[in-house]
Amino acid sequence: MPYPEDYLETVEQARQERDSGRERALEAKVSNIAGYDTVFLGFPIWGETAPPVIRAFLSAHDLSGKTLIPFVTHGGYGLGNSRSVLASHAPKARLRDGFVMEADQERRTMNQVNDWLSGIKVSG
Ligand SMILES: Cc1cc2nc3c(=O)[nH]c(=O)nc-3n(C[C@H](O)[C@H](O)[C@H](O)COP(=O)(O)O)c2cc1C
Repeated sequence: MPYPEDYLETVEQARQERDSGRERALEAKVSNIAGYDTVFLGFPIWGETAPPVIRAFLSAHDLSGKTLIPFVTHGGYGLGNSRSVLASHAPKARLRDGFVMEADQERRTMNQVNDWLSGIKVSG
């Protein structure tokens, strides 16, 4: 099931999935994960943590003994508890610091555009 088109509905659904610990169904698994020594795992921060599908990916693949390198974007609030989620879902992986950067924040864009629109007066 795809997430809703509406941003705020998606945020709400992601929050529920976070709080319930529910995992998303994976569309596919990596069939020969045993053949890799290093896994780069990229994701955005959702609800101050890793998105549900990232938990699902880690639960579905055995990363024991592998080097796990996250590369993460967030909307200005940082990594949240995502590192401890990685550590608990891939307990036998060697978790590296990886890469973090602030990226677009839909909520900020939405609020600023809405503020602007409600503050201007146009005629006609
Ligand atoms: C459902 C949802 C929840 C989000 N929660 C957070 C959050 O808790 N903290 C934060 O800094 N950014 C949050 N964001 C912003 C995303 O981290 C940001 O949009 C993303 O890193 C940008 O990368 P993308 O364009 O690949 O999604 C959230 C975005 C979505 C869609």
